Amino acid sequence: MKLTVNGEPREVDVTPDTPLLWVIRDELQLTGTKFGCGMGLCGACTVHLDGEPIRSCITPAIVAQERKITTIEGIGDPERPHPLQRAWVELNTPQCGYCQSGQLMSACALLAKNPQPSDADIDNAMSGNICRCGTYPRIRAAIHQAAAQLNQNPSQK
Ligand code: FES
Ligand code: FES
Repeated sequence: MKLTVNGEPREVDVTPDTPLLWVIRDELQLTGTKFGCGMGLCGACTVHLDGEPIRSCITPAIVAQERKITTIEGIGDPERPHPLQRAWVELNTPQCGYCQSGQLMSACALLAKNPQPSDADIDNAMSGNICRCGTYPRIRAAIHQAAAQLNQNPSQK
């Protein structure tokens, strides 16, 4: 099966119904995306499909064929972090960290559509991402900070 992951064409030998999360983690070794509930309930496995946040644990690989998949590894790296990733570090947003790549992927999709989200917009967009450590206030603050930076300097996207 042919997939495009973080801008690169990848070929994987999996059955069409294999969950995309297994393909991302086990076949492609992109382990930044996490397994939480496996039932579409927690958001830990969130990636983008053509820019939309999806739950990769309940998405069959065939659905992603020849579409654009973006994982946490594709939005920035330590040398060139996404403004959201910078804000996450600056505000010490994660606690245990487990849910945070899913949180960042949902936040990234939100800012792509809504560059100046209100608290309510953020709560609404992030409501499917559960954090057992309760970092929600810091996530919200980090999204506001990244939004402000992006609005000052849109080329950082
Ligand atoms: S692991 Fe996919 S939503 Fe929980
Ligand atoms: S930081 Fe621990 S689950 Fe969110």
